[in-house]
Amino acid sequence: MRLGVLVSGSGTNLQAILDAVATGALDASVAVVISNVSTAAGLARASNAGVATEVVNHREYASREAFDAGLVERLRHHQVDTVVLAGFMRIVTRVLLEAFPRRVVNIHPALLPSFAGVHAQRQALNYGVRVAGCTVHLVDEGTDTGPILAQAVVPVLDDDDEESLGARILVQEHALLPKVLQWISEGRVRVEERLGRRPRVFVTG
Ligand code: GRF
Repeated sequence: MRLGVLVSGSGTNLQAILDAVATGALDASVAVVISNVSTAAGLARASNAGVATEVVNHREYASREAFDAGLVERLRHHQVDTVVLAGFMRIVTRVLLEAFPRRVVNIHPALLPSFAGVHAQRQALNYGVRVAGCTVHLVDEGTDTGPILAQAVVPVLDDDDEESLGARILVQEHALLPKVLQWISEGRVRVEERLGRRPRVFVTG
């Protein structure tokens, strides 16, 4: 499995992937890390691990679709077969999704379908839920709506703020994302498409 990891920020989930590849827990290689933000710390993490980096600046494209076509071109150049959105703060279009059918994975810091979109941890605190967590899912054309592959749960404590809750969730993210990618690399994830209904996901083995 040749991963293309897209990041916009600090890249701690990218780091978890790089570490899992280094230890052999994840049987894959990170072919390229692409960011839309030239200063993203995730790019330095990739360089430190000897992984190729690219900057594709969304501001240089006239539309989301044109930006995605630029991403696809660079991903194909690096012979990527699976794309991971790891803190990638852009909404992707069918241009990316059709280039990598059912091979685009996202990590979201909430128990979907609750609290999609930005500031998921803040949404959870404001709502007053007692458990929170993270979701790894396949990406579709909606925002955080694609088929769910795995979720992990954390408690919400009375004195939590966005930062403390976010940190507790992030620990789970770093464990869950490499684990799910390993399932994919082993061919253990099967998606059953169902007309007019949500696809059903099976994880075998
Ligand atoms: C994570 O909370 C992830 O779930 C969300 O963006 C954040 C990225 O963090 N999509 P990092 O860049 O991996 O540190």
